Amino acid sequence: MLNFATQIAREAGNLLVQRLGVAKITNKGDINLVTEADIAAENLIIERIRSYYPQHGILAEESGEAIMVGGKRSEWKWIIDPLDGTTNYAHGYPCFCVSIALEHQGELVIGVIYDPMRNEMFAAERGQGATLNDRRIRVSSVEKLDAAMLCTGFPYNVRERPDFAREFTKFTMEAQSVRRDGSAALDLAYVACGRFDGFWEDGLSPWDIAAGAVLIQEARGRITNFKDQPLDIYNEQVLATNGLVHEAMMRVLNR
Ligand code: IPD
Ligand code: CA
Ligand code: CA
Repeated sequence: MLNFATQIAREAGNLLVQRLGVAKITNKGDINLVTEADIAAENLIIERIRSYYPQHGILAEESGEAIMVGGKRSEWKWIIDPLDGTTNYAHGYPCFCVSIALEHQGELVIGVIYDPMRNEMFAAERGQGATLNDRRIRVSSVEKLDAAMLCTGFPYNVRERPDFAREFTKFTMEAQSVRRDGSAALDLAYVACGRFDGFWEDGLSPWDIAAGAVLIQEARGRITNFKDQPLDIYNEQVLATNGLVHEAMMRVLNR
């Protein structure tokens, strides 16, 4: 099933690249955008799942949840963000990805994140480790916050979550550097492969987090909420690190 997931992520990613700069853009809310490419990529992924795994449930950003399959609740659920980084995509800023995860009986078992601009395929299966273009990846070994490169995301509606600016200021003062790239799934993949040492964001959706969570865990990182409780992808908050800077980041978030 991992091969299936990487294959559809690649197909969807290629579709995104083909339509970059030409896809029509509409507003979902005041700030939140959606493009024709989001919808086309999601339709492609859902079509493939429906034909290969007709009994599986699907939770996809643009179409919502359909977990009742054949009249009963499926044990399997695909969690899909067909285009993570839509605002970047709409502006032609080449930082976006396709994110696909698979849950089995409530446990995340597969996570795939594909960056079609760099042709980077991040993939992980529970118990089997994580890879980038088929080479094994691990989180970084940076131990101290003042040597760490961190990343975060700003919520669409910043007015409802004023904490984000306070947190950003604190980490900017304490870490070596802080980035905001606009694609939470890709940010998580970058923690998994050691490019970032830590990532935090509040206000995320399950499809932003699910695939990255498998990657982080399989790359021997740590992923929790801001209170060090076990990750719940349906609960918006993520602190993902190499494990070594986790406590220090949590202290800053809770200060
Ligand atoms: C968004 C991106 C962004 C994060 C937002 C997400 P979208 O997803 O991941 O980095 O800050 O919270 O909603 O809308 O581009 O799929
Ligand atoms: Ca997203
Ligand atoms: Ca999206």
